[in-house]
Amino acid sequence: MAHSAGVDVGSTQTKAVILNEERRIVGRALIDTGANVIAAADRAYHEAMQDAQLNETAVEYVVGTGYGRYRVTFGNAQVTEISCHGRGAVHMFPRTRSVIDMGGQDTKAIRVSATGEILDFCMNDKCAAGTGRFLGAAASALDIPLAELGVTALRADKPVKISTTCTVFAESEVVSWLGKGKRIEDILLGVHQSIAKRSIGLLRRVGIEEEVSFTGGVAKNIGMISVLNEALGLKMNVSEDSHFMGALGAALFAMDHILADRKVAEKAESKS
Ligand SMILES: Nc1ncnc2c1ncn2[C@@H]1O[C@H](COP(=O)(O)OP(=O)(O)OP(=O)(O)O)[C@@H](O)[C@H]1O
Ligand SMILES: [Mg+2]
Repeated sequence: MAHSAGVDVGSTQTKAVILNEERRIVGRALIDTGANVIAAADRAYHEAMQDAQLNETAVEYVVGTGYGRYRVTFGNAQVTEISCHGRGAVHMFPRTRSVIDMGGQDTKAIRVSATGEILDFCMNDKCAAGTGRFLGAAASALDIPLAELGVTALRADKPVKISTTCTVFAESEVVSWLGKGKRIEDILLGVHQSIAKRSIGLLRRVGIEEEVSFTGGVAKNIGMISVLNEALGLKMNVSEDSHFMGALGAALFAMDHILADRKVAEKAESKS
């Protein structure tokens, strides 16, 4: 049985997924991208193969995506993250029409058709204020592990209003609220609400159409899920694999290629 792979080299984390011919995920890996982007792509790919208990010969086609997609030196093709997140989300949640991808540096809003084609998209420009990096800055200022940010925020009862729109100043604003005696929970809920507001602005620009799927690493944050659901007045699709959605989309495009090639070969054989 043939397998395909998708490697999503993000600015912050690199994700790899291995798919079988039934388009089921049989292996995954997640590592920090770090300074050596080529090495990160390579390591994530090999860890995902190990996870799937496969060796390289079993993987017929690899698609790279993410900002470092051209650094996937063993990749057979590259596809943009927008296309991959859209494709992955529609595969996992077929009724998806809008996608919000919150990563380390970028937040992207995407509108897709029933078949996963991209109808429209927009992303935050150079500013990282509505992204995982803003959360990371708050986490380090408050000395809270990333994985606990969301649950902590959900314990708030009087969220503060975060006024800064710049990640560079997020840390000092958080520290200044602490100095004014505000509770960590209330500061954090304020941070989540400010990020949610920005990403809903992006979603509005492409059009919010149900169902909405949440992808990227910030979809691991239950505080962000809850704040976004409340502000949108709906329940977004989120799964354990939401962080892998871009890599899944890439692996799906790779599987399309394998199966299309096979069809062409079978046709040629039947003619000869
Ligand atoms: N367990 C977790 N709990 C909460 N947040 C998390 C967790 N794991 C990752 N994150 C968040 O996800 C972000 C990384 O997400 P992702 O891997 O989608 O980004 P990326 O693809 O590298 O970035 P980009 O798409 O902007 O280039 C981190 O910055 C962090 O804020
Ligand atoms: Mg990404």
